[in-house]
Amino acid sequence: MNRILVTGCAGFIGSHLCEELVKNNEVIGIDNFDLFYDKSIKQSNINNLLKHPNFKFLEIDIRSNLVSEIPETIDFIIHLAAKAGVRPSILKAEDYIDVNINGTHSVIKFAIEKNIKKFIFASSSSIYGNNNLIPFCEHHQTDNPVSPYAFTKKSCELMNYSFHHLHQIDFINLRFFTVFGPRQRPDLAIHKFVKAIYNAQPITLYGDGKTYRDYTYVADIVDGIVKAKDYLAANNHVFETINLGNNSPVSLKDLVEEIKKITARNLEIIGLPMQDGDVNYTYANIDKAKKMLGYRPQTSMKSGLAEFVKWYAATQN
Ligand SMILES: NC(=O)c1ccc[n+]([C@@H]2O[C@H](COP(=O)([O-])OP(=O)(O)OC[C@H]3O[C@@H](n4cnc5c(N)ncnc54)[C@H](O)[C@@H]3O)[C@@H](O)[C@H]2O)c1
Repeated sequence: MNRILVTGCAGFIGSHLCEELVKNNEVIGIDNFDLFYDKSIKQSNINNLLKHPNFKFLEIDIRSNLVSEIPETIDFIIHLAAKAGVRPSILKAEDYIDVNINGTHSVIKFAIEKNIKKFIFASSSSIYGNNNLIPFCEHHQTDNPVSPYAFTKKSCELMNYSFHHLHQIDFINLRFFTVFGPRQRPDLAIHKFVKAIYNAQPITLYGDGKTYRDYTYVADIVDGIVKAKDYLAANNHVFETINLGNNSPVSLKDLVEEIKKITARNLEIIGLPMQDGDVNYTYANIDKAKKMLGYRPQTSMKSGLAEFVKWYAATQN
């Protein structure tokens, strides 16, 4: 059985990932319950995990002295902890730089000190910026990130290469595309819209509804991460950057229509101009993930949305 360190384990993606990993691995999950959103949400994300014999939780910051906190040997690191969110990163760039860049360096330092050679990093589609070439391929240029959040992710991809080169740590940078599903972060559009509908409040739409996102269901992302871990287990001298998306972008307007249909409720819309840091399009070319990892996303936006609404409704009882 492998032992895997998952950072950001109490978050949206982290909690789903750990639930999958504990089936066949020992998992040490760390999280500092960062106040980006409510601590109680993150605590409830890991409620079931805390009862699992293969799961150990540590409430610590990735920027702390990890070697003194984690004495166990570790086979893989899956590093998800970060300040997420594009818009808030514009107001608090220094926090994003500190947690995302210095925090990632701290986790890499831990890998070096503990001689851990297999490392997965959660990167983001946002690093493609307003690239006009779609769908986005891994070899496209990513030199024009339009938010601090995006440049922290790009910086980490570059930093990872240096430590791969210097310390022979195998890395896979996975660029996630707008992840959704049960437990989705409350700051993200689908969660915000469904919450507004349930509370009979209007929603704010930024832009003309013609921005597109390649919504990717969380179970597909988890499957891609597990496949990347298996790839790292089977191969040495790896440094790869791979898109994990759905290859099927949906416009904001269509997303709202679909939410109205699924919830069978009406919705008042307040239109505002697009916000700084937002991009027009995210659209993943996933050929590399298919070929290298055998990644095949299974869940359409419609059925994933239905799962989200079912989950959201259950949390209201
Ligand atoms: N959700 C998406 O659509 C999406 C898209 C692209 C990339 N990502 C990346 O995937 C990862 C997970 O995203 P998510 O949506 O699950 O976000 P999330 O905010 O739900 O999870 C991140 C977790 O990291 C923890 N964390 C933050 N700072 C920490 C610190 N200093 N020490 C320890 N833990 C800390 C938070 O408390 C949180 O539980 C992030 O790196 C994010 O940038 C997410």
